[in-house]
Amino acid sequence: MTAMTSSARPLLNRRLAEFGTTIFAEMSALAVRTGAINLGQGFPDTDGPEEVREAAVRALRDGRGNQYPPGPGIPELRTAVAAHQQRRYGLSVDPDTDVLVTAGATEAIAAAMLALVEPGDEVIALEPYYDSYAACVAMAGGTRVPVTLRPHEGRFRLDLDELRDAVTDRTRLLLINTPHNPTGTVLTREELAAIAELAVERDLLVVTDEVYEHLVFDDAEHIPLATFPGMRDRTVTISSAGKTFSFTGWKVGWITASPALITAVRSAKQFLTYVSAGPFQYAIAEALALPESYFEDLRADMLTKRDVLAAGLEEAGLTVHRPSGTYFITADIRPLGETDGIAFCRALPERTGVVAVPTAVFYDHRELGAPFVRFAFCKKKPVLEEAARRLKTAGTL
Ligand SMILES: Cc1ncc(COP(=O)(O)O)c(C=O)c1O
Repeated sequence: MTAMTSSARPLLNRRLAEFGTTIFAEMSALAVRTGAINLGQGFPDTDGPEEVREAAVRALRDGRGNQYPPGPGIPELRTAVAAHQQRRYGLSVDPDTDVLVTAGATEAIAAAMLALVEPGDEVIALEPYYDSYAACVAMAGGTRVPVTLRPHEGRFRLDLDELRDAVTDRTRLLLINTPHNPTGTVLTREELAAIAELAVERDLLVVTDEVYEHLVFDDAEHIPLATFPGMRDRTVTISSAGKTFSFTGWKVGWITASPALITAVRSAKQFLTYVSAGPFQYAIAEALALPESYFEDLRADMLTKRDVLAAGLEEAGLTVHRPSGTYFITADIRPLGETDGIAFCRALPERTGVVAVPTAVFYDHRELGAPFVRFAFCKKKPVLEEAARRLKTAGTL
């Protein structure tokens, strides 16, 4: 009998060969085994607002969204997304033609890559990059071209010359993420303006992941790339409810873009999930209409948490690049005499009872990311205080 599979041919599609198990699975398993505080994965340890949870329960009970919702998303949510973009950023978005609801930002990224990228196309992404970017570019058959954010005067900075030099005749799109996971960098108005000019000059599409749009601190300001001249018709803006409303398990995300781009991305999206999260879409429509005080309180709360963790890491001897956005801190372990973040993170739970993730796994240039380690601070304040205490008193650090 002939074997069903040839031993010469691996089971996993070769495009995905480099994407085995994620570092999060390894580190979370380590957290469970050692009973360590898990600051590796970025999900809050408290649910979002009670009234939003209740809105989901009401939708379920009332039978709203329990059957397939409309392909582009329920009108209430599309209208709420459009109103949010108008209110916050002055962007006028037509809920009928310019919004597409997705299964989290994750599906939005996948659908955008599958729709817009062909084999041979190059996609420029900021390195370190969120891990799904590399996998989605690979699934689309594209080639990723990383442009590295480097620490400079306390923040990870984009080198605009390097970005310009990375563009070739094969570049199809720029995949931007601001506020940026894992570095916490929020691109400035000047940086965004330069990216926009480059996109216009070289006629590039831009996919911009803005899931941390509400988590910006100090003097930083989140400005959507779509607001810059010439960007409306070439930008796919992605956001999601997970980070803003602390319901990461609901997986409600959305895209805003021109009708032509929405149509293209929807062509891919309809064959991924088709639709998702019916009752949760109703709840997030209500969440987006929460008063401004909700968003201010979220930001203030996260800022306090950032400062607790940053102080703890500094006291433990790490160099902290204090993030202007997101709920992650990227710290440099070199002051501890360490250079290998992967080995450091594998040993950290036993040494201190805290789990972090090595950011080297988010780099193509692994050597550039080697000394950096990411800690999430979207946890209760006492949990962060305990983590800080453990890091400081571990003695071996
Ligand atoms: C930069 C970035 N984009 C997208 C996502 C995924 O968002 P969602 O849970 O809505 O799929 C995350 C989650 O950590 C993220 O950090």
